[in-house]
Amino acid sequence: MEMFLLLLSLLAFFRVSTTSIANATIQVQDEVVVRSESYSYEPSRLVMYVQTFKTPQGQLLSLLPLLQHHTKVTHIVLASIHLHEEPGVIRLNDDPFNSPTWDTIWEEVKILQNNGVKVMGMLGGAAGGTFIRLNGTEAEFYSYYHPLLDLIQKYNLDGLDIDIEERVRINVPLRLINALRRDMGPNFIITMAPLASALSERGGQNLSGFSYFDLDIFATVPGSDEKLISWYNGMFYGGFTRGPPIFQSIVDAGWDPARVVMGVLDCSDDGQPNGFVRIERLQENIRNLRVMYPSFGGIAGWEYYDAGMSDGDVYQPWR
Ligand SMILES: *[C@@H]1O[C@H](CO)[C@@H](O)[C@H](O)[C@H]1NC(C)=O
Ligand SMILES: *[C@@H]1O[C@H](CO)[C@@H](O)[C@H](O)[C@H]1NC(C)=O
Ligand SMILES: *[C@@H]1O[C@H](CO)[C@@H](O)[C@H](O)[C@H]1NC(C)=O
Repeated sequence: MEMFLLLLSLLAFFRVSTTSIANATIQVQDEVVVRSESYSYEPSRLVMYVQTFKTPQGQLLSLLPLLQHHTKVTHIVLASIHLHEEPGVIRLNDDPFNSPTWDTIWEEVKILQNNGVKVMGMLGGAAGGTFIRLNGTEAEFYSYYHPLLDLIQKYNLDGLDIDIEERVRINVPLRLINALRRDMGPNFIITMAPLASALSERGGQNLSGFSYFDLDIFATVPGSDEKLISWYNGMFYGGFTRGPPIFQSIVDAGWDPARVVMGVLDCSDDGQPNGFVRIERLQENIRNLRVMYPSFGGIAGWEYYDAGMSDGDVYQPWR
């Protein structure tokens, strides 16, 4: 079988010339121009979430194969960033950003960015608490927000994927998104990660408690229609990946297909039972979606370290 990311090269129109990679920093650099040009013609994104930074054998997982194997990955999302109870205590999984655990990752992030890949952080996720901490007075909010902003700037993240899996009022994401836009400017990418069902119908199943329909109406640049949320990495797990219908119902509900990225599980161990769809089926679904919606927003995979493993492959997560 052709593995996960390889098939997703279907999404790309432009091919970069093949380079053999002996020195990732230097040789991959030639691609910069080609890759970034291709993105301006090709709205489809290939987003890869990374949360487990070790191989199944326990070795440090390198992100560079995503470049070296020409996977066409456009965005890498480092997951998950949590705000802990004491303001300013912020960790990527179990460790602060400046922990030696992450030294290699930050080096790789620079290489990826130099080669046209955007590297974002994911805030929140399954472990709760982060967003409840942002539901306070202005002073309380900023005591948590400013240290987060400092890290985003210091580690030069290109964006933040806001994954709210706890019930909060709509002004929690709104205040955060407005603050990020004000402080990081229009080039900073702000995305969110709702359940697909929270986009397919008002009142649909959701983990965040507020309506994404309402949020998207409010989350605009003041005095204009410009959206603050660049796109949604919808979680199309469970029964949702099976075919175009859920994506179609999202578009029918009024969402621009270019702003909806289909998030899927890369391996059957990564989520709910039955959430995983074998690669041939996924490939067919993507083809159908691209025909139906030429501006189809793209694909996101959760997650990198075991991508393809349920498809009977040897361990090569970059494929
Ligand atoms: C990679 O490039 C750097 C900078 O030019 C150089 O110092 C290093 O020796 C190169 N590494 C390899 C393996 O070629
Ligand atoms: C958020 O704040 C509002 C008003 O300050 C309060 O009513 C609500 O209970 C808070 N929610 C949580 C989850 O703390
Ligand atoms: C969130 O999901 C619940 C069911 O899980 C639903 O009752 C509620 O209406 C949804 N809320 C919004 C704002 O869509």
